[in-house]
Amino acid sequence: MSTFTLLGISGSLRQGACNRKLLREAVRAFGDADYVEADLHLPLYDGDLEDAEGIPPEVQKLADQIKSADAVLISTPEYNKNLSGVLKNALDWVSRVKGMAWKDKPVVLMAAADGRAGGERAMHSLILCMMPFRANLVYGPEVFIANCGEAFDESGRLKDEGAEKFLGLLMKKLRGVLEA
Ligand SMILES: Cc1cc2nc3c(=O)[nH]c(=O)nc-3n(C[C@H](O)[C@H](O)[C@H](O)COP(=O)(O)O)c2cc1C
Repeated sequence: MSTFTLLGISGSLRQGACNRKLLREAVRAFGDADYVEADLHLPLYDGDLEDAEGIPPEVQKLADQIKSADAVLISTPEYNKNLSGVLKNALDWVSRVKGMAWKDKPVVLMAAADGRAGGERAMHSLILCMMPFRANLVYGPEVFIANCGEAFDESGRLKDEGAEKFLGLLMKKLRGVLEA
C-alpha cells in the first residue's frame, strides 16, 4: 500500500476549528498517509500588490503544496450561508499562480458548521468556486457536520456514528481513486 500525501485546507483559521478537526478525522479514516495542513494566513488578494511584488511567497507555497499533494481535502465553515472569505481568498490567489495547481487533482470537499444544515450551502458554493480549476472532485457521500461545536469529543473524534460512516466511505472512495 502506497503512502499518499494529503493536503488539508481548513476554511477556518481558528486553531480549535471544527473544520480542522473534520480534516483530521478524514485523514484518520483514510488510513496511512503523510498529512500536511495548509496555512491560509494570506494577504487579501490585491491586484496592486500582485503587480508590484508578484505572487506572495505564502501563496506560492500553498500552490506548490497543492501541486505536490496526491490529494487535497477542503473543509469549509459556513458564514452567512456561504463559504468563508478566507477560503475564497486562498482560491483566488492560487488561481493567479501559473501552472494550474488544481488540474486533475483529486479533491474532497466537506463542511462543518454550527447550523442544522452542517454547512451544506457553503459546500455548494464551494463546488461552484472550484469549477474553473478543473480539479478531479471526488464527490459523495456528502459529509456535512451540523452543530459542529458539539460534534467532536475531547480527543477530536466524531461522536456521531452516521457521520463517521459517511466520512469513512468518502475517504475509501478517495483511496480507490488514488490507487487506481
Ligand atoms: C460571520 C459568521 C457567519 C456565520 N454564518 C453561519 C451560517 O450561515 N450557517 C451556519 O451554520 N453557521 C454560521 N456561523 C457559525 C459557524 O458555523 C461556526 O462559527 C463554526 O464553528 C465555524 O467553523 P469552525 O469551528 O471551523 O471555525 C457563522 C459564524 C460566523 C463567524
